[in-house]
Amino acid sequence: MKRINKLFISLLQGTLLVLLVQCQQADSNKEMQTETGYYQEQYRPQFHFSPESGWMNDPNGMFYYDGEYHLFYQHYPDSTVWGPMHWAHAVSTDMVSWEHLPIGLYPDDLGYIFSGSAVVDWKNTTGFGSEDNPPMVAIFTHHSAEGSKAGRTDYQNQSIAYSLDKGRTWTKYEGNPVLPNQGIKDFRDPKVSWHEASQKWVMILAVWDHVELYGSPDLKSWNKLSDFGLEHGNHGGVWECPDLFELPIEGSDESRWVMFVSIGRGGPNKGSATQYFIGQFDGQQFTNENSKETELWVDAGPDNYAGVTWSDIPKGDGRRLFIGWMSNWEYAQVVPTEKWRSAMTVARALKLQQTDAGLRMTSSPVQEFIKVRAESNEISTQAVSGAVQLENISFTTLSDVRLEFTDFVQSSEFGLKLSNEAGEEVLMGYSPKTGQFFIDRSKSGISDFHELFARRQTAERSSASDVIKLRILLDASSIELFGDEGSSVMTALVFPTSAYTKVSLFSKDGSAQLTSGQMSTVNSIW
Ligand code: FRU
Repeated sequence: MKRINKLFISLLQGTLLVLLVQCQQADSNKEMQTETGYYQEQYRPQFHFSPESGWMNDPNGMFYYDGEYHLFYQHYPDSTVWGPMHWAHAVSTDMVSWEHLPIGLYPDDLGYIFSGSAVVDWKNTTGFGSEDNPPMVAIFTHHSAEGSKAGRTDYQNQSIAYSLDKGRTWTKYEGNPVLPNQGIKDFRDPKVSWHEASQKWVMILAVWDHVELYGSPDLKSWNKLSDFGLEHGNHGGVWECPDLFELPIEGSDESRWVMFVSIGRGGPNKGSATQYFIGQFDGQQFTNENSKETELWVDAGPDNYAGVTWSDIPKGDGRRLFIGWMSNWEYAQVVPTEKWRSAMTVARALKLQQTDAGLRMTSSPVQEFIKVRAESNEISTQAVSGAVQLENISFTTLSDVRLEFTDFVQSSEFGLKLSNEAGEEVLMGYSPKTGQFFIDRSKSGISDFHELFARRQTAERSSASDVIKLRILLDASSIELFGDEGSSVMTALVFPTSAYTKVSLFSKDGSAQLTSGQMSTVNSIW
């Protein structure tokens, strides 16, 4: 009798459970019907990477293996503001279209999973795999929120995890942390690479107001090599997310080492930005070849932060490839998007070039981007004076615009203007008067979420050429401007209350000659 009762109760429970699940499904179907389509929400980037939902900040653990570019990122799935950090994961075969994969690393007893990098351990120095099946190793910061709350100073430590299945699943190393904190609170964001000349792993780590370099034979034991930066570059904010890599100088047999350091505050247009240094690295110490005061910026715009480069790009490709977080800590958590927050920049290829201002790093959208470029319209060459609306061009906000101007000495500023019926507008271009590129988003739309948003942003020019070349990528809520073929770059978010529908060329106080112009629409990657 007892057994029959039990059976009956469990059958009843089972039926109730099925009913409950069915109800929930019906509910969520209802929700689905009223929701906007996949990646169709207002401000949703169409050709930039953004998480399906929840919060995102820095790109992490970027490596290439077996035809796939991996992108991990700082993610809090349960909210659209920052919280306990996970490493979420996506892969791409071209750095343009992305496939979302399950979360790679979850917070654990040692803490949240803060920023870091990943490498392919080809020689199996860790012993986690074999030379036939080399392990992929992630090196990241464990951030103990409890330690931080308790007022300790040693709550950030470096740990590792490995994957033997093309990055699909990760096992944390039982000996974590591999580089324990030495008593400095800000001790994070390890970026690791194999240093061929000295046959060892080198880690660059952000330590409050400088970077530290560490060496290792096996990614498990680390010894300190040197410090850099206390008196160099910009110190308007905490140093974060460094990178260190060698880059050839275009058109020569020489190369230099480039170091990236992101700063939370103090960027050229206020707020977060990433600076870079050019110099030498001998496997031990980095030497800056510019003066200590020199400040160079990866992107002078307000919305490109914490960017780093992909590891293990095949030699035959040889490019140095970059992606950045397209936001700014000043307002990242309050921008007016609802389901998700933040996107990445487009993937960019980095080069070192001699310019009229000296050796500079340039960046341009990766050539693979051409895959999503659709219909292309020529803009008639013309002398631009005042504002000239481009009426016979079918303009959508998703565009890749290329413009070349000459004879602009009379003009105080010229370029491209977008506007909408609500009278909101954003201007981008070059000012011969100040010698600066600019994006003016002071009347671009919603901006009351932060006082720093509605401003004109500028970038110095490093070329003295009498041709100004502009390439501008326009997505639903972002602008990326590449001046002089990527030697001056600016990235800025915009939130118009309705999409910009009008596009004009303009030149103020005098004319500028448009000698070439193309506007291509860009397809959505989602
Ligand atoms: C940079 C940063 C990193 C840190 C991560 C935490 O944006 O502050 O220094 O590891 O974000 O999410």
